[in-house]
Amino acid sequence: MLFQVLSSLLLALTAGASSLSQVDAPAPFNSSLFKDLNVSRGLNYHYYAVPADTGKPTLLFLHGFPSTSYDWRHQVAFFQEKGYGLLVPDLLGYGGTSKPLDPQLYVSSLVTRDIVDILDSESIDQAVVVAHDWGSKTASRLAHYFPERFLSYGFLAVGYVPPTFFATPYEERLNLSEAVLGYKNLGYWDFFSSEGADQTILNHLDSLWDILYPNDTTRTITDWSPLGALEAFITNDTRIAPVDYVTPEERAIQIEAIRQGGLAAPLNWYKIVRGTLEGEDDQGISPENALIHRPVFFGAALRDYISVAPIFVAGALVSSNSTVTIREYNSGHWVQMAFPDEINSDLLQWIEGLGSDA
Ligand SMILES: *[C@@H]1O[C@H](CO)[C@@H](O)[C@H](O)[C@H]1NC(C)=O
Ligand SMILES: *[C@@H]1O[C@H](CO)[C@@H](O)[C@H](O)[C@H]1NC(C)=O
Ligand SMILES: *[C@@H]1O[C@H](CO)[C@@H](O)[C@H](O)[C@H]1NC(C)=O
Ligand SMILES: *[C@@H]1O[C@H](CO)[C@@H](O)[C@H](O)[C@H]1NC(C)=O
Ligand SMILES: *[C@@H]1O[C@H](CO)[C@@H](O)[C@H](O)[C@H]1NC(C)=O
Ligand SMILES: *[C@@H]1O[C@H](CO)[C@@H](O)[C@H](O)[C@H]1NC(C)=O
Repeated sequence: MLFQVLSSLLLALTAGASSLSQVDAPAPFNSSLFKDLNVSRGLNYHYYAVPADTGKPTLLFLHGFPSTSYDWRHQVAFFQEKGYGLLVPDLLGYGGTSKPLDPQLYVSSLVTRDIVDILDSESIDQAVVVAHDWGSKTASRLAHYFPERFLSYGFLAVGYVPPTFFATPYEERLNLSEAVLGYKNLGYWDFFSSEGADQTILNHLDSLWDILYPNDTTRTITDWSPLGALEAFITNDTRIAPVDYVTPEERAIQIEAIRQGGLAAPLNWYKIVRGTLEGEDDQGISPENALIHRPVFFGAALRDYISVAPIFVAGALVSSNSTVTIREYNSGHWVQMAFPDEINSDLLQWIEGLGSDA
């Protein structure tokens, strides 16, 4: 087993050496279709861009933490072949995109402007957005700040995040979660926003990987969520069985992307919500835009105990005055990788059905 992992890792590193040094996601991504854009605030965004066949919409895929455009490999393979336009950025702090260290630069009003700069540069009037994890917060804010630019909104694992979500102070939110769930699902935000967390994680990346992608997702309740638990788990180099749907080659590519980019920049996605920056920024959302007026899809991950499905199902149901489609998967957090065939076919059915009411 160890030999197999090591040899596939070597294979991945040697075979993929050129793409790794360019920080581009490998196949099914076509390396000649990556682009860079200096967005209006002077930061670089690296993104994958496939032009749409006539009559097909462009799909914008937004990844979460700690990831890159490569999280969407199964969706890129599927929708590219069908002629959909694709825009798949490395989001701020990740991959080939700028990695500023000032947390203030990560608030939603600024990140959404960057995304719309990409749409402008690609001459896309309106796109369908599909998002996962922190990408779902950005997708929600795109609806709040730029509703005219999107046909519809797809959310995976993390659902629609309303404008008032971060108005609740972190400590109060922890107590609420304890009262509702019986555990503090967001306790790890404290570690993630602490000084030096990026280096601590890099020093224990294999252990981090195991609990980020655990085969037994209930382990996140005890070893990821509670205050102090994740730091104790990784500094102890605890190892548990990871999922089997990420191959050793894919794992090596994902881990290498984290190593190359570091985590000081990505952890800013947590610093702004552990503190008050995002909550203050969200006060700029106009009340008329709090409701989505377009179709919404939510893919609920029933075995995700951090981004708890029933809470987001309830949120999705009131997110839009248009049609709301909810699909459930017997999945942990990484539903687009764990159930690629189901997610792809459900998204396709949803997107094809949009013509009638979008
Ligand atoms: C990659 O994209 C380029 C530019 O569109 C195209 O010429 C080439 O055939 C594509 N390669 C593959 C393997 O599809
Ligand atoms: C990006 O654009 C800004 C002006 O908006 C400019 O100052 C900066 O040099 C540009 N950066 C790159 C990498 O081209
Ligand atoms: C959270 O709960 C703890 C323990 O019950 C309490 O001491 C603390 O004041 C609460 N904090 C907030 C912000 O509600
Ligand atoms: C993964 O979990 C399943 C049950 O969900 C179990 O049957 C299987 O043995 C586990 N695999 C490993 C490697 O622990
Ligand atoms: C530390 O590692 C040991 C041995 O692998 C394990 O039994 C123990 O549960 C771990 N502690 C934590 C906090 O993960
Ligand atoms: C949703 O609300 C907007 C603004 O109030 C309205 O224009 C639109 O017709 C509504 N859509 C539906 C399906 O009710």
